[in-house]
Amino acid sequence: MSNPSFLVPPILCLFFFVNRCFSDPRATEAARICSNRTAPTAERQTFVASFLESMDTVTPLIATQRYAAVVNGTGNNTVYAFGECMKDLSQTDCNVCFAQCKTQVLRCLPFQLGIRGGRLFYDGCFLRYDDYYFFTETMSLEDRTVCATKDFVGNDTVFSANVKHLVRNLSVVAPKNDGFSAGSVTEGNISVFGLAQCWELVNGTACAECLANASAKIGSCAPKEEGRALNAGCYLRYSTQKFYFNSSEPVEESNRGRHLAVTLAATSSAFAFVLVIATVIFIVRKNVLKKRRERKQLGALLATVNNSKLNFSYEILERATNYFHHSNKLGQGGSGSVYKGVLPDGKVVAIKRLFFNSRQWVDHFFNEVNLISDIHHKNLVKLLGCSITGPESLLVYEYVPNQSLHDYFSGKKNVQLLRWELRYKIILGTAEGLAYLHEESKIRIIHRDIKLGNILLDEDFAAKIADFGLARLFPEDKSHISTGVAGTLGYMAPEYVVRGKLTEKADVYSFGVLVIEVVCGKRNNAFSQSSYSLLQMVWNLNGTGRLSEAVDRDLEGMFQEEEASRLLKIGLLCVQASAELRPSMSTVVEMLTDDSHEISQPTQPPFLNSSIAEIHQFVPPRTYSFQPGSQSHSSGNNMTESGIEPR
Ligand SMILES: *[C@@H]1O[C@H](CO)[C@@H](O)[C@H](O)[C@H]1NC(C)=O
Ligand SMILES: *[C@@H]1O[C@H](CO)[C@@H](O)[C@H](O)[C@H]1NC(C)=O
Ligand SMILES: *[C@@H]1O[C@H](CO)[C@@H](O)[C@H](O)[C@H]1NC(C)=O
Ligand SMILES: *[C@@H]1O[C@H](CO)[C@@H](O)[C@H](O)[C@H]1NC(C)=O
Ligand SMILES: *[C@@H]1O[C@H](CO)[C@@H](O)[C@H](O)[C@H]1NC(C)=O
Ligand SMILES: *[C@@H]1O[C@H](CO)[C@@H](O)[C@H](O)[C@H]1NC(C)=O
Ligand SMILES: *[C@@H]1O[C@H](CO)[C@@H](O)[C@H](O)[C@H]1NC(C)=O
Ligand SMILES: *[C@@H]1O[C@H](CO)[C@@H](O)[C@H](O)[C@H]1NC(C)=O
Ligand SMILES: *[C@@H]1O[C@H](CO)[C@@H](O)[C@H](O)[C@H]1NC(C)=O
Repeated sequence: MSNPSFLVPPILCLFFFVNRCFSDPRATEAARICSNRTAPTAERQTFVASFLESMDTVTPLIATQRYAAVVNGTGNNTVYAFGECMKDLSQTDCNVCFAQCKTQVLRCLPFQLGIRGGRLFYDGCFLRYDDYYFFTETMSLEDRTVCATKDFVGNDTVFSANVKHLVRNLSVVAPKNDGFSAGSVTEGNISVFGLAQCWELVNGTACAECLANASAKIGSCAPKEEGRALNAGCYLRYSTQKFYFNSSEPVEESNRGRHLAVTLAATSSAFAFVLVIATVIFIVRKNVLKKRRERKQLGALLATVNNSKLNFSYEILERATNYFHHSNKLGQGGSGSVYKGVLPDGKVVAIKRLFFNSRQWVDHFFNEVNLISDIHHKNLVKLLGCSITGPESLLVYEYVPNQSLHDYFSGKKNVQLLRWELRYKIILGTAEGLAYLHEESKIRIIHRDIKLGNILLDEDFAAKIADFGLARLFPEDKSHISTGVAGTLGYMAPEYVVRGKLTEKADVYSFGVLVIEVVCGKRNNAFSQSSYSLLQMVWNLNGTGRLSEAVDRDLEGMFQEEEASRLLKIGLLCVQASAELRPSMSTVVEMLTDDSHEISQPTQPPFLNSSIAEIHQFVPPRTYSFQPGSQSHSSGNNMTESGIEPR
């Protein structure tokens, strides 16, 4: 009571969003439709660059206005891209859904087949790119209707009638209601729930046409339990489950907070009222949660979990972070937000609040946490445990105090300049950590997301790699969930971007980019057409033997020239277009620690000149097979899809 700011978030949740506190971004794929229009691959590279640019442009727009329509590139290499979230999702859920959507749309961009368009319908968001202006398109030949396989159990005459009634109603209401409508029909004790939405640039008339078409098609799904109509201009879904959030308009979280705060301040009686209601709801909710928890705890597995030292109680972690108070927030990653917490015994930890609930695979999740927590190395952030019996899944890590490398190279004012010796030490530490993951630990792990933001610095400025093994925790998420796919693309090895081929060498590539960034004090912007990329600059300087000119100017010459050239050369060796030519991480460590170790001449990094021959270096001409969700791996590579497998 003495600290109102501490009370507000729980009250907010309880009073207004009893059903909304548990995030559900509905990031489930309804359909992926890759266009069958193709073009010769001659200018593919430029088209891909336009595509990546459009994804970069769409992301921040989605995060502010929930939809985005952008055009990038010129001539035959123009890419049109459109993305939008369902209007009932919160902004956070919208971001999560979109982040995942973005990773999957890459599957409609195979290099060799020259496909020039793709649509990805998620239940929470939509993303499409194409090579023509489609923003106001409502219907197309590629539209889909997707029906569930299971029939409704019960009186299917009544059910089908309800479905038809509901979808007709939704498709009439939505065009008059800003293109969105969600609701239910209950007749004869049978309920059907549904949602209809037209994309932002589709006007009222066109929206009505699109949804009328959708509702006619989806009606034929009944009496299947669930159906979705996925048109170019609209989305319509019905289900036996209530899947949408019951709120007619999306509400901005921060505004909610402000409004409530104002209300609270204005009338103390309102405050008392809110408090009473909140308390009642809190008790009811607590009982519900408790029952649910007890039911789950019956499982033998959870008994094990509860007795394990890896298990943290949700309540304790909640208190440790002051109920996830924003002042304790350390950062926001692709898989969740991270908070600083102080445990009852005074130990400081970092707590990661995962966007995705692990409920469906508690056993898998716990086993993985168990495995990963067994990995110890001075250059890896230690995983201490998890909480999986509470309302959301949390991971508990050791706390690393000196921020991430990203903070030192993103132009922030309040960080010190990293001295040359520190940079060398950080690079070496990162290399040792990766070599351990790849070659020495009990389970072989490919990190998949090496970037400045994932290298943390401890009190002695030793590098600690964060988030390794995260991909392992989410078996169903085949793509690594990364809000920053666009941001992270600069680090992704070409064979991984284009073909999804994943080996340790993809990490080596990312590491190479990181080395060059740390030495040059600049970020790599590999796919920008306009700006001269960092890799290209360093490559060119290497050609003329002037590598030391690339070193960070802010160091004002306070570095050893020979050491710097050596580091940049190692960086270039790691980013070679051909994965086979890149050194292993243990070789990199040898080069970094032994000055007499020979460093060979690097070959060219990818995407630097437009010669097709070079692209073909990493796209084998004939063995390509397009299988969404599983990539063909060439011989000599026995990686699993998740990128890791036990030795
Ligand atoms: C693309 O698909 C549509 C509908 O499935 C079909 O009518 C058309 O012929 C296809 N075009 C090509 C080039 O395959
Ligand atoms: C991509 O398109 C957006 C708007 O459509 C524009 O603001 C942005 O500058 C473009 N990016 C480049 C690199 O041309
Ligand atoms: C664009 O593509 C069309 C058809 O593929 C071709 O005829 C035309 O020459 C191309 N234009 C340019 C500028 O390459
Ligand atoms: C609505 O959009 C359709 C298709 O783009 C267009 O033909 C029509 O003129 C538009 N109607 C209005 C009122 O803008
Ligand atoms: C389903 O319900 C309708 C109306 O209530 C009824 O006439 C019909 O007999 C029922 N059918 C079955 C199979 O129960
Ligand atoms: C849609 O459903 C609502 C609530 O059931 C009802 O009030 C409204 O009249 C219906 N509209 C149409 C066009 O059927
Ligand atoms: C939301 O719930 C209320 C009460 O449960 C109900 O009256 C209303 O129709 C619902 N709205 C939607 C869009 O489902
Ligand atoms: C409605 O259905 C539920 C189970 O689906 C049943 O428990 C309930 O008795 C039914 N009510 C009526 C009025 O038929
Ligand atoms: C929906 O639109 C598509 C494309 O215009 C058309 O082929 C289809 O027949 C329409 N379906 C219905 C039920 O109106």
